[in-house]
Formats: sequence, structure tokens, C-alpha cells
Amino acid sequence: MDMQRIPARKGNHNLRQYEEMRASFKWEDIHQKFSWNETGKVNIAYEAIDRHAENPLKKDQIALLYSAPGREETLTFEEISKQSNQFANVLKKYGVNKGDRVFLFMPRSPEFYVTFFGILKTGAIAGPLFEAFMEQAVRDRLQDSEARMLITTPELLERVPQDELPNLEKIVLVGGNLEDSGKYIDFTKEMADASDAFDIEWVDLEDGMLLHYTSGSTGKPKGVYHVHNAMIQHYATGEWVLDLKEDDIYWCTADPGWVTGTSYGIFAPWLHGVTNVIRGGRFTPEDWYETLAKNKVTVWYTAPTALRMLVSAGEDLVKTFDLSSLRHIMSVGEPLNPEVITWGLKAFDLRIHDTWWMTETGAQLIVNLPSEEIRPGSMGKPIPGIEATIVDNEGNEIPPNQMGNLAIKAGWPSMMRQIWNNPGKYESYFINGWYVSGDSAYRDEDGYFWFQGRLDDVINTSGERVGPFEVESKLIEHPAVAEAGVIGKPDPQRGEIIKAFITLNPGYEESSELLEDIRKFVKTELAAHAAPREIEVRDSIPKTRSGKIMRRLLKSWELGLPTGDTSTLEE
Ligand code: PRX
Repeated sequence: MDMQRIPARKGNHNLRQYEEMRASFKWEDIHQKFSWNETGKVNIAYEAIDRHAENPLKKDQIALLYSAPGREETLTFEEISKQSNQFANVLKKYGVNKGDRVFLFMPRSPEFYVTFFGILKTGAIAGPLFEAFMEQAVRDRLQDSEARMLITTPELLERVPQDELPNLEKIVLVGGNLEDSGKYIDFTKEMADASDAFDIEWVDLEDGMLLHYTSGSTGKPKGVYHVHNAMIQHYATGEWVLDLKEDDIYWCTADPGWVTGTSYGIFAPWLHGVTNVIRGGRFTPEDWYETLAKNKVTVWYTAPTALRMLVSAGEDLVKTFDLSSLRHIMSVGEPLNPEVITWGLKAFDLRIHDTWWMTETGAQLIVNLPSEEIRPGSMGKPIPGIEATIVDNEGNEIPPNQMGNLAIKAGWPSMMRQIWNNPGKYESYFINGWYVSGDSAYRDEDGYFWFQGRLDDVINTSGERVGPFEVESKLIEHPAVAEAGVIGKPDPQRGEIIKAFITLNPGYEESSELLEDIRKFVKTELAAHAAPREIEVRDSIPKTRSGKIMRRLLKSWELGLPTGDTSTLEE
């Protein structure tokens, strides 16, 4: 087969239908599928869960198929509906109102999904935090969002610096056996007392639903604010890109602390009423295949780092599992190597479909559709309803085959509506009516988009987005570190790894113990995935005359590339 072009397979729509949609589709067309068409009021929790629980043919279907080491559980649509009603009643009892921020900080578990929908049913805004976050990461997010309530587990509680969170009124503890006292609420006990009937808070399409914190090159993580309206696009892409049919068994491997784990780990599958596989715990290649085989997964959404791990585990391993149920695979978060696509064709006899989007975009924008030819190395084409282009620094469109900044015509349904508490930052994303992504890419004559890299210093390690500033700030809190500059260094397995350049304070000598101690410091205070894998001690860190760290120069040195313009370099 010609590896430059992998022919289309069958999907929910054929290519001609997509081409027609690309020409004439309007997002408003989707509205008719939902109840707000009649009432004008909406709640995504109703559309994703309660709507199915009200349907006699759907209510007993397994919605959540959960497994983790030591725990297996299923929940039907009716069970999630009732339990999330119970939790919504608990939240109301403690004074949660529409628009309040309620955060979740816990491992993937059935309780995560129940409490998540409980929050949405009250009209409050849910803020999921990745379970691997350490104290600093938790503090930054809870402080910025002024969260009133947090749902967590006793094990994670020590990472919540309560003294520094004046707005945090209550903490719901899932698991353990705590007396209700003062700040703490015992989940199990409260749920047992709560009614499973709840009057859902009907909100407007433009009302807030979700805050996902994400990193840029400067400053603290920022709160990307999404509204209920996003569901239109979650639903549409669930049909077009995920290719969902009602009897599918779907698995998205992303954690709900990241946007893929909510938009496509929660909303898209359940808006379509499919059975959603959730796998907790850490994975080995055997676990991945076993999860696919045991649950008879039909549609699978994962990431290049995971796929590369499977490639490394070899073809013999995959042959020992019965993966005959699998019919559709997608990837997100990092460039998808053509070699991985080739391997997918051999290992699964399936194409792997790349999808491109960001926390800020809320849903997929540029994708390989099931019924469209794949050109390995390309992210594919914009979905119907989306206009994408490449712009220069002034926001002017540039012709095909020239690299520039990937930009999307602003106004799609799942687009972020605010950066929390930071209108200036929000505005800075837009120019001439385009949302400018910060990814460099080009578009070929046939409209396929080809990703080239980030235009800023944001690091993408194993598909996880890390801001160099946060890591640098943490590094210099270590007593031995005077200055720090952090870059992403290309890595065949992880895409990039984090590399830190540091200078030492007087009285400290470089040693492998010291470097390991510094690494651990970041790991235990910020997050494991943010800890530098490599640390290099230098006599100085290059800075501009205004004191900004020149990460670009560090990167050029690291890669042995020409250093370009260094005229702003401090003496
Ligand atoms: O650089 C792009 C990369 O991930 C960034 C967005 O990261 P995040 O907000 O964490 O969202 C990840 C999942 C939605 C983008 O700016 N990225 C995402 N998808 C791809 C990608 N890079 C290459 N190919 C992709 N398909």
C-alpha cells in the first residue's frame, strides 16, 4: 500500500456527505437534537445522563464500565443519574449555587463521574484536577478559581494547603471513615442520607460548565472556561470523528484532569449514550491490550506516547489478545508518527486517525475523518463548521505550503469563553477574528494540515502540557538553585522530555545526589510529569537585558543548532 495515502474506510457518513456538510453545515442544525430547542434552557448533565435514564430502553444499559487494580464496577445510566442527583442534593445542602466553582481532585473512580455530574446539575462549574498534582499545583488552581468546595480523598488531602485557601469552605472526602466535622464532609454518609430526586438547574447555553487549568510559556497556569454550549460540538464530533453508534463500547485513555478526559472521556460518549470504559491505575502494555480485549472495546481514543509504548512492546504481544471487536482508533495530543500508523495497520488492521485540538478549543477541530483518506504525518482537515488557516504574525492568511501560525475562525461552539480572572490574556489569543493557536503548521493544496511544532516555549511531554515558567519557579525555590531555564528536549518515546539548566548558589557543589534531590523537589511539590528528567549545571543562564530567560538559546545549544539573533542577550 502507498504509505503516503491510506484509503478511507466506512464511517457514519461517506465522503460526499462530509463535503456537502463542509460547504453548507450550520452549527444551529445540531440544536434540534436536544431538548433546549423547545425550552431554551439546558444542562449538559441532563443531555449526557438523565435523558438516557428517562428512556426505558436505555436506562439499564451500562454507562460506566470501570476497572482498576482491585476494583471492578459498573453503573447504568439510571444509577449515574440517581447518584449524581444525590450528590447534587449534598452540594445544595452545603450552599453550592449556580456559577460557584467546585473542584475534583481524585483518581479515576466511579465517584469521580457521579460527583462531576452532581456539580453540573447544580449549575456550578466543575474544575477537575489531575490526581498527580502536588501541593503547589493544587494551590495555584484553587486560589485562582476561588473554589468554594473540593471533592478529594483522604490520601490526597495532604496536598491541599487549606490554610492558604480562604475561599475553600468545605471538603468532601470520598473513602475513609471521617466524622463530619467543620470543614469535612463524609461522602458515603451524606450520600446515604440524600434523596435521589433533584430539580436540575436549567441554565443558558452560554453559562459556565467547566474550568480546565493549562500552561502557557509565562505565568501561572490559566483557567480555561467552557460553557454548556460546547456540547453541540462534543455531540457532532462524537458522530463524525469518534464514529459512535449506540451499541459501541468506547474507551478514552485520558485522565479527566485533562480536557481530552472530559470532552471525550465523558461528554461525547455519553451524549451518544454509549458504554464508556474507564480504566484506573497505571498501565503496562499488557493492561492496555487486556482492557481492549476483555471489554470488547469497539472505539478507542488514545495518544501517541501510549501507542509508541505499544509499538516498543512488539507485535508478538498484540497477537496474544483477541482485539477483533475494535473497529476505530484515534489519537490526540502530540504529533502522530507515520511509523505508528504503519504499525497500526499491521497490528490491528486498522487506521489510526489523528485529531488536533487544544484545551482552549474544547473539542476537535482538525481531524482524519473515518471516510477520508489519511496522509500519514498530517493531522487531517477541519471538521464541518470549522474554518482553519495559517496566518502570519499580523494575523494575515498565508498561502498553502508555507509555515505559519495555525488559526481558527473564532466562534465555534466549544471555544473557551474566558480565561478565568484574566480578560487581557483571553483577548491576546485573537487577531483579526482568528483564534491563533501558537502551533506552527502548514496547509497543503488539498487542505490537509501538517503540524510542525510549538511557536512558544510550552513543553509537550508524553502529551502533557507543561509550562517552563512553573518548573523554573519551583526549581529556584530549592535552596541550591540560583537560576533556572527549562526547555523541552526531543525524545523518541515521550515526544519531549523536560530539561533544566540551572546555576547553583554559593556553597553548593554539583553532585548526582544534589541533582536527584532537586529533581525530587519538583516532583513532590509540583507534579511527577513536570519534574526535569535532565538537569545540567551551568555557570550562567542566558537572559535578555530585561531579565527574561532565553529558552530558545538554551534549546539551540542543546540541539546544536544555529543560535540566531542574540542581540538582546545580556552581557
Ligand atoms: O501543540 C499542540 C499539541 O497539544 C497542544 C494542546 O495541548 P492541550 O491543551 O494539553 O490539549 C491536548 C489535547 C487536546 C496543541 O497546541 N497537539 C494536540 N493535538 C495534536 C498536537 N500536536 C500534534 N498533533 C496533534 N494531533
